[in-house]
Formats: sequence, C-alpha cells, structure tokens
Amino acid sequence: MSKKLFRRDFIGNLALTGTGIAIGVPQILKAGTTDYKPAILGGPKAHAAPFTTWPVFNATEEKGLTDVLKSRNWGRLNGNVMAAFESEYSKLTGCKHSLGVSSGTSALTTILGALEIGPGDEVIIPVYTFVATYNVVVLNYALPILVDTDIETFQMDATKVQAAITPQTKVIMPVHIGGSPVDIDVFMELGKKNNISLVEDACQAHLAEWKGKKVGNFGIAGAFSFQSSKNLNCAEGGAITTNEEAFIRTCYNFHNQGQGGRSAAYTPGVGTRGTNLRLTEFQGSLLLAQMTRLLEQSNRRWENAQYLTRLLKEIPGITPAKLYPGTTRSAYHLYMFRYDKNHFAGLSRSKFLEALSAEGVPNSVGYGQMNKDSYVTGLAKNKHYLKIYGEKTMQEWLERNQCPQNDVLTSEQSVWLFQNMLLGTKKDMEQIAEGIRKIQKYAADIAKL
Ligand SMILES: Cc1ncc(COP(=O)(O)O)c(C=O)c1O
Repeated sequence: MSKKLFRRDFIGNLALTGTGIAIGVPQILKAGTTDYKPAILGGPKAHAAPFTTWPVFNATEEKGLTDVLKSRNWGRLNGNVMAAFESEYSKLTGCKHSLGVSSGTSALTTILGALEIGPGDEVIIPVYTFVATYNVVVLNYALPILVDTDIETFQMDATKVQAAITPQTKVIMPVHIGGSPVDIDVFMELGKKNNISLVEDACQAHLAEWKGKKVGNFGIAGAFSFQSSKNLNCAEGGAITTNEEAFIRTCYNFHNQGQGGRSAAYTPGVGTRGTNLRLTEFQGSLLLAQMTRLLEQSNRRWENAQYLTRLLKEIPGITPAKLYPGTTRSAYHLYMFRYDKNHFAGLSRSKFLEALSAEGVPNSVGYGQMNKDSYVTGLAKNKHYLKIYGEKTMQEWLERNQCPQNDVLTSEQSVWLFQNMLLGTKKDMEQIAEGIRKIQKYAADIAKL
C-alpha cells in the first residue's frame, strides 16, 4: 500500500476514535516511537496496510495449468510434469532423488511404509508439532514417543532423546518447526550411535540449511509439505527427498499401489505394501511455477526475519526463538517468539495478542500440548493398541509423554507470526515492533479493558 493510503487510513482512525492528539501533529506514525496509543485503545494501527497476500501467482501458473489441461495428461502416470518437478526439486534441495506425493502426511506415511514400520515399533517425535507427525505413526500401529521442547528454540530437545530410546525404537523423526533446523548434528549422532533411522519432517522447512546444506539431506529421507499455507504451495501436495536410490524406489512403489514404473510393471523386491498417494500433473505445474520465485521469497523472509529479530530483541519481555549455531538458513515458515507478561504489566498473552491483532499484526498462539489432548491420550484405550502393547505399556506410555517445558512454553509464552508477513519491506518489520512497543507502554490500561 502507498504511503498516501497509509496516511489516509491513519487520519481516518484519528477522526473516528478521537485519540486526543493535538491538531497539527504530523499525521504519520514515526518508526521507533510510542507517541500514539495502541489501536485497541483507539490509536492508529501500527500496520495499517495488509501484508502480502498468499499465495502469490501470475501468468506462469495460469499457463502451466492450461498446458496440462490441454495435454489431457492429467495424472502422473500419463504425463511428464511431475517427473520434471521431481528433477527440479532434487536440484533445488541438493538431494539425489525426490518423489512428489499427495501431501506432507503422505510423504511421511510413505517413508514409514518404506521403512516397514509397524506394530511393536516405537517412533520418537516432538510434542511441539502439527498432529500429522503423530498421526502417521499411529496409522502404522507403532507407538509415538513424544519428546519435550527446547523452550529457547521451540524445537525438539535433542538432549532428551537418548532417554526416550528403547530396544523398540526404529525411527527418530525430528521436525524443523517453523522452518528452522533442529540441532541436526546431535540427531545424526543419536541415529548413528543407536543404529536408528533418522527421518526429517521438513514439512515447514523448504530451503532451510544446516552448515550450508539443505534440510532433507541428513536422514534416510526428508518429508516436505506443499499444502496451501506452506512456503512452496500447490494447494495439497508433498515430496520425499533422499540420497538412497533403493529407498526412493521403495517409496515410489509404496505410493503407487506397490507397483513400480509408469507402465505399472511390478518391480520385485521393493516393498510388500502400497497405496495410492500420487500427485497430479496440475499440482506439478503449479509447483514448477511457484519454484520460479521460491529463492527470492526465501531470501526476503530470511533478511526480514533477521531484521525483525534485531528490533524485537530490544523490547524487554519479547524473546525471538533462537536458531541453533549450525543454522545457515531458516525457511521462516513461522516467526516464533516468547512473550513474558511480567514486562507488560501482567497483561495476559491472549489480551496481548488481541491488542497485536488490533495493530494490524495477525498472530497465533501456535501449537498446544498435544500429549494432553484427548485425541492423543485416548490412544491408551484404543482396542488395537491394548491388544498389541497391553494395558501396562499404554499406561506407562502416558507417563513417558510428559513434557514440562512444552507446558510452560505453550500455556503462556509462545507467539507465532506467519511467513507471508515476512515478504514485505523493512518498514513492515518496524511497524510490527512499533505495535508491540505501543502495547507495552499502555499494557496496564489494556489490562483493564
Ligand atoms: C510439521 C508438519 N508435518 C506434517 C505436515 C503435514 O503436511 P500436509 O498438511 O501437507 O499433509 C505439516 C503440515 O502442516 C506440518 O506442519
């Protein structure tokens, strides 16, 4: 939005709400000041213009979709677009092999299927993740073991993983939450030392890097999501990356009803189970088009996020999520920070977020306590789980899943901003910080609302 529009909106706000600011004061909100009241108290919005609308598209997407339509080759078993996408995605991630599948969940399902994970096996996952990470384990009747969160980074606490490993553990599946890499070296060492497969849930982490290497390269395989909100988006879709040829062949067969190759000719010896998790040529064309701007968008998010971190670090009570030292790039699918109400006159997080929304800064509290959700605790009573593991093991499982640090983080501190908000300018970042500073200055008044 132009400066002119911004000013008009600001003046409109003043006229409507009567903030008591003297006539003649320049009608522009100065960055770095808290001269004006928060919007929730009738002041001007810190960020009056909308953030970048997501998804972004242009004629490239339109042409790609129309070309597939006219080709009449709409499925991957007929056309060449998905194969072209896979070749480009391998180049982009630096992984030897990629396979497009119908979602990030399908990518994880296929990987666990290819690893032959099943009843009696344990899979270690973080408690702080989207429920899909948990669901793919349970769909295989394996036991998901939930590990606590490193409150400083919002990531799975690598130092707590060893204690969660048992002779039944077959996979460690860390998640690069928010698009920031977990402490990858420690996870790789854990996998090697215990002879357990490492699978990266990189569903939020397109182009994230650890020591200059893209995520999706560190375990036996990486899983990516292309669901609507993701940094690379085709409405619903996903991909598997791996550097093992035999593994991608097993994954291909699993996602294609156990059959290898376009001709559906059976390739013996690569798996004993399968389903249909294929992606369509339409989505392949959308992904190829979206990839033409992924790098530029990723650079922009990275630069804006780093600037925002510098600004927010100066505000007492606001602590941006730290990146582990090996991180050379976060995808910043989410911008995560901690809120400490003690620096905001005791203002609750929910009131703080309401005030932040009023400033024109969309936000969320993010994930909660999955280990305490009845959807998850109910597994202890699932008839198949009782049959496979027995009552005692399932009761102990509830105990094993206690995550005290995650409780602290999610019940009062965690805040998310979203990737599209990082696609704008430095000014947007300044206005986000400005909104928070205004709220801080007037926190006691907001608390009374
Ligand atoms: C960490 C994580 N894992 C898995 C998934 C599942 O991906 P999809 O929604 O494409 O199935 C998501 C999607 O939000 C995710 O954030």
